[in-house]
Amino acid sequence: MTLEIVPFERGFGAEVRGIAPDLDIPDAQFRQVSDAWTRHSVLRFRGLRMSPEQHIAFSRRLGPLHIMKPLKFNLEGHPEVFVVSNASKDDPSRPVTRNEAGEAGLRRAGEGFHTDGEDKRIPNAGSLLYALRVPPERGDTLFVDMYAAYEALPETVRQAIAGRRARYSRIDLHGVHYPHMGPLTEEEKRDRPDVFHPLARRHPVSGRTSLYIGRWACDVEGLAPEEGRRLIAYLQDFAQQPRFQFRQQWQQGDAVLWDNRCTQHCATGFDDAAYVRTMYRTTLEGDEPVMARTTAGISLP
Ligand code: OGA
Ligand code: MN
Repeated sequence: MTLEIVPFERGFGAEVRGIAPDLDIPDAQFRQVSDAWTRHSVLRFRGLRMSPEQHIAFSRRLGPLHIMKPLKFNLEGHPEVFVVSNASKDDPSRPVTRNEAGEAGLRRAGEGFHTDGEDKRIPNAGSLLYALRVPPERGDTLFVDMYAAYEALPETVRQAIAGRRARYSRIDLHGVHYPHMGPLTEEEKRDRPDVFHPLARRHPVSGRTSLYIGRWACDVEGLAPEEGRRLIAYLQDFAQQPRFQFRQQWQQGDAVLWDNRCTQHCATGFDDAAYVRTMYRTTLEGDEPVMARTTAGISLP
């Protein structure tokens, strides 16, 4: 089988064709995939058949894996696999192990544009999401090219964000993004302190600059809170224009590998009273975001 990388029409993201369905591939092919990932930021694989062990083994070749805490929605025996699912204990097919509440995985994960781990000091470099069971309609995931968004920003805005960091706050925004969950406990608040990340981020591998923003960003360091909130809202609106997006319409056996350092993504919802959607995700450990030192027009000290 010859491995082929087929870029999507709009130049953002690509499909990997001709790959072994268990992703157990020789080193030369792995290098092709990993280079394509750097070039395209989002890669789609179709028709996969992977066990959790194979999913983990392939992901590990990309870098150390992150284990999602608390261990609530992780696959039993495979804590590296985080489960996104609306299956409940009443579902007769029981595709995955359940936690004490009878939930298979985290419901309604990722509704709202975000990058995984953006609310942590060390966000996650990438994620590989594998579709085990998908609804017959909807349940798509949108991805945004944040290099393209940065490059398209008006120069005045690039200058306004140069050298600046956004404040990400689980504490301030938990009730906004997870209204269906209870409030954070004091312990959870201690575990999730506010963090600050550069708005213009330099990618550690490609060296390119992307806009870095997500749904846990509230305001901007050094600006009045209201002014910061307005800037964040402007940047999010700007980045979410359809011209920067790729829409993944899932088929069973699809997997998407995305780079959290230069893309955002968003779950779009589906009829979760009627259908089951179950996805397994491995998550790559990352590094502390690095501030981009130049914009098109100016250099920072
Ligand atoms: C994720 C996520 C979106 C989706 O797993 O990180 O945001 O559509 N998922 O399931
Ligand atoms: Mn996510």
